[in-house]
Amino acid sequence: MSSTGRVIGDTLLKIENISLSFGGVRALSNVSFDVRKGEIRAIIGPNGAGKSSMLNCINGFYHPQQGRITYKGSVREQMRPHEAAAQGIARTFQNIALFKGMSTLDNIMSGRLLKMKRGFFWQALYWGPAEREELEHREAVERIIDFLEIQAVRKMPVGKLPYGLQKRVELGRALAAEPDLLLLDEPMAGMNVEEKEDMCRFILDVNDQFGTTIALIEHDMGVVMDLSDRVVVLEYGQKIADGTPDEVRADQRVIDAYLGVQH
Ligand SMILES: Nc1ncnc2c1ncn2[C@@H]1O[C@H](COP(=O)(O)OP(=O)(O)O)[C@@H](O)[C@H]1O
Ligand SMILES: [Mg+2]
Repeated sequence: MSSTGRVIGDTLLKIENISLSFGGVRALSNVSFDVRKGEIRAIIGPNGAGKSSMLNCINGFYHPQQGRITYKGSVREQMRPHEAAAQGIARTFQNIALFKGMSTLDNIMSGRLLKMKRGFFWQALYWGPAEREELEHREAVERIIDFLEIQAVRKMPVGKLPYGLQKRVELGRALAAEPDLLLLDEPMAGMNVEEKEDMCRFILDVNDQFGTTIALIEHDMGVVMDLSDRVVVLEYGQKIADGTPDEVRADQRVIDAYLGVQH
């Protein structure tokens, strides 16, 4: 059991000696850490530290030149994003990536695409089973909408929603895939205090109610302290600290690199 009272299981994700470069830019240098089942793991560090790049390696967007990623006990070779998704990894993005002209409902429904067995061809041929399946997906989506308390905006185009609600819809789309590992890239960035509190509560509830393991990037140290079991600190692509929020907060390298700087 962790200091947050959560029950933490075995290693779900193991990152070993990951290095990633873009031309001459070294985004990640020899970074290692693990994420255990059931925990909320924070990744912090100054801008450009390599945090988003790390999430992109985990969900198969980027392929590191060196190192090894082990997920659910198997070493992954050159996994692509849709394969990561099929294995239960879902994410949200630093810059919201939703279909702005589509409704809240349809955006969240799009998160279930992987779960839809029947394509349009089968829908045309066998209306019956396809219709039943569609109903099941609708029900799952409605449960997420209730859970995130966004019933009032379910038919609205997401482009018209305030920023904080768009972030919530994006979380909903990720949840629609029923992930085992949820990657959140600055889920609270740009939010006001009230929106942040709501998002914190939803993240805790997702972890608590669905048992979802969460790795999140966040700048607000207060939020990190409240939410996370353990924290990885990156600076210039290197890991400079790894431990409980209290340990990391007391680490002089972290204080120098991160806490003294305003973001
Ligand atoms: N697709 C890319 N092409 C080129 N450089 C990139 C790319 N993605 C990230 N970088 C570079 O890698 C470094 C780390 O970026 P990033 O992972 O976005 O940091 P953070 O999320 O911690 O702010 C930066 O120098 C950034 O410019
Ligand atoms: Mg980033």
